[in-house]
Amino acid sequence: MITLAVETSCDETALALYDDERGPVGDLILSQAKVHSPFGGVVPELSAREHTKNLLPLLESLVKDTSFDLRDIDFVSFTLTPGLILSLVVGVSFAKAVAYTYGKPLVPVHHLEGHIYSVFLEKPVEYPFLALIVSGGHTDLFLVEEFGRYTFLGGTLDDAAGESYDKVAKMLGLGYPGGPVIDRLAREGKPIYNLPRPLMDSDDLNFSFSGLKTAVMNLIKKEKDFKVEDVAASFQEAVVEILVEKSFRAVEATGVKRLTVVGGVSANSRLREEFSRRAEKLGVELHIPPPRLSTDNALMIAYAGIQRFSRGIVAPLEVNAQPNIPLEEFGRLWT
Ligand code: KG4
Ligand code: ZN
Repeated sequence: MITLAVETSCDETALALYDDERGPVGDLILSQAKVHSPFGGVVPELSAREHTKNLLPLLESLVKDTSFDLRDIDFVSFTLTPGLILSLVVGVSFAKAVAYTYGKPLVPVHHLEGHIYSVFLEKPVEYPFLALIVSGGHTDLFLVEEFGRYTFLGGTLDDAAGESYDKVAKMLGLGYPGGPVIDRLAREGKPIYNLPRPLMDSDDLNFSFSGLKTAVMNLIKKEKDFKVEDVAASFQEAVVEILVEKSFRAVEATGVKRLTVVGGVSANSRLREEFSRRAEKLGVELHIPPPRLSTDNALMIAYAGIQRFSRGIVAPLEVNAQPNIPLEEFGRLWT
C-alpha cells in the first residue's frame, strides 16, 4: 500500500511517498523560515501563498527524484486539522485535486496524530504509551491506548513551548524559528539566571510558559551586559525542567512506563539529554524521533494515513480544512 502525503499546516510545505511494506519512498520538505524570519514569527497569509507557489514544483521534484508513477498510489493522506486555516486550505485543496485526478481515495489525518506516530517510522511502540507533544502550537500530554484513542491529560494554559522559544528568540533579535538557534547558543552559555518554573507546584499536568517569557523580557531589560548565551541557557534549562518534570509525573500518575516525546521542540539537544537521563534512572521506555522527524514533515502524515486507511477511513471530496478539531474528538469522529 502506497500513499502520497501532503502537510501544509504551518510554515513547512511537505510531501512524501510512503509504502507500508518498504517504508519511505520519497520525502521532501520546503521550509519557509527565510520568508518569516524578518517578522519573528509565521505570517499566515505569506505561509498560504508560499504553499500555493511551491506545492506543484515540489510534487514534480518528488516524482522526478523517485521515478514514481503517481497512478500507482493507493490513496492521498493529508493534514485536515489543526493549523493555520489558510495554509490548511491550500494543502487540502491540493490533496483533493491529486485524488480527483488519479481517482484515488482521500484520507484525513490530524497533525498531532502525525507527530505522535512520527516515532513509529523508526520502530512501532507498544500500547499503551504516553505522548508529550511539544511544538510551535502545542504542548500537550496524551495517553494513547490504541490507534485513534487519545486521552488528554494536560496541556499549556497559554503559550506552547515552541512558541516561547520563538518569542524569546525574537526578543533577543535571533530571528525565526527560535528553537534551533537558542539550542545552539545555550550550549555555549551557563544557566546562571534563576528564572521561574510556572505551575511546577500544581498537582495537575498543565503547563504555562508565558510567565517565563515575561521573566526573560524583564531580565534583559534589567541586565545591561548580559551574555545572550547565558540567557539562552537559563531559559532553556527552565523549559526542559518543566517538560521533564510534568511528563514523569504523568508516568507516575498513570503507571504507564512508556513515553514518547514528539514535535519540533523534541529536536532540542538538552531536552533529549534530560529526558534520556531521567528515563534511564526511572526505568521508563523512552522514544524520541530523530530531529528530522521531530519537526513538521509529511512522512508522519503518511504513516498515520496508512493506519487510518487500513481501518477503512476515507473522506468525501467535499471535506474541508478545519482550524482546530481536538485530537480526542478527531479520534472518535473518524475511527
Ligand atoms: O512541530 P513543528 O515543526 O511545527 C508545529 O507543529 O508547530 O514545531 C516547530 C517549533 C518551533 O517553535 C521551533 O522553534 C521549535 O519547534 N523547535 C525547537 C528546536 N527545533 C525546532 N525548539 C527547541 N529546540 C530545537 N532544537
Ligand atoms: Zn507540527
